[in-house]
Amino acid sequence: MSPEATDYAATIREDGNSVVILDQTRLPSETVFVSLNTLADAAHAIRAMQVRGAPLIGATAAYGVALGLADDASDARLNRVIETLAATRPTAINLHWALERMRRVLQESALAARRDVAWKEARAIANEDEAANAAIGQNGLPLIERICRSGDVVNVMTHCNAGRLATVEHGTALAPVYAAQAAGIPVHVWVSETRPRNQGLLTAWELREAGVPHTLIADNAAGLLLMQGKVDLVIVGADRIAANGDAANKVGTYLKALAARAHGVPFYVAAPLSTIDFACPSGAAIPIEERAAEEFGVAVGNPATPVANPAFDVTPAALISGIVSERGIAQAGELGQWRPGT
Ligand code: MRU
Repeated sequence: MSPEATDYAATIREDGNSVVILDQTRLPSETVFVSLNTLADAAHAIRAMQVRGAPLIGATAAYGVALGLADDASDARLNRVIETLAATRPTAINLHWALERMRRVLQESALAARRDVAWKEARAIANEDEAANAAIGQNGLPLIERICRSGDVVNVMTHCNAGRLATVEHGTALAPVYAAQAAGIPVHVWVSETRPRNQGLLTAWELREAGVPHTLIADNAAGLLLMQGKVDLVIVGADRIAANGDAANKVGTYLKALAARAHGVPFYVAAPLSTIDFACPSGAAIPIEERAAEEFGVAVGNPATPVANPAFDVTPAALISGIVSERGIAQAGELGQWRPGT
């Protein structure tokens, strides 16, 4: 949360004893900021997807702990606060990573100091996210530079929104795109709509704000574009990466990975280390959030028709060309080198 980041539509920022978020349910038609003053506000913001994207969910949850301890910083209250926030969304591990970090730090802190410590630690989590994503941008830049040697525009395909809106700053999948733009490399992004919640419209919004050329496509058009050679590189984000490199991300990612493999297009996942769940052995153990049928919209047929709405899917490590983190680029099978303490 650098001062520059607050000059425009910052996704999250402190404001005295509250936290101000950019309400992503109102984008792209309106830019509305919402003040979070209580634990309930923070939990609602995550559940209702006013904030979304794994890293931003993590930072919001950390601030939610600080808000939740305002009147009572006891162990019992801390446990209740963490439990409430942990129940908001199941797939993004950044949420649980941030909450466990807050728990560890706060349990070690004297009761009287806990409120201050909570704000300080939440701020540290937010600032570290910004720094990690900046590093992801630099580490992913060579993937785009390499393709650009021909001098032509580099066509990147992404899915969902793993841009600055999904993080405290810079984005993950879009961080290398922004780094390429800053380096003067001509880049164009294929943005898939991302049914049913249309996070692709958020990606289009932020790319437009940043002046990055892009084109919105229906999700089902991705295979054709990959077949036609119109995509040089696919970069997506992740909500949870298992220890073996399987990566959960917004539903539809797996289909893009399959089509990219079929047509020889590199497929990269960009995520901070806070997205890697070393306790989760493989993608099969990642909980997949099931969301409400209402997300399909009123236009969907008969209300008596059952609807399944899994919000994420898992791309097997074998389909992933590499994982870009703040530490560099690793093959999906080599994540052990990034295990904490190594
Ligand atoms: O349901 P959402 O919008 O929170 O899902 C977001 C994604 O799937 C993103 O790709 C992922 O969180 C990475 S964000 C840098």
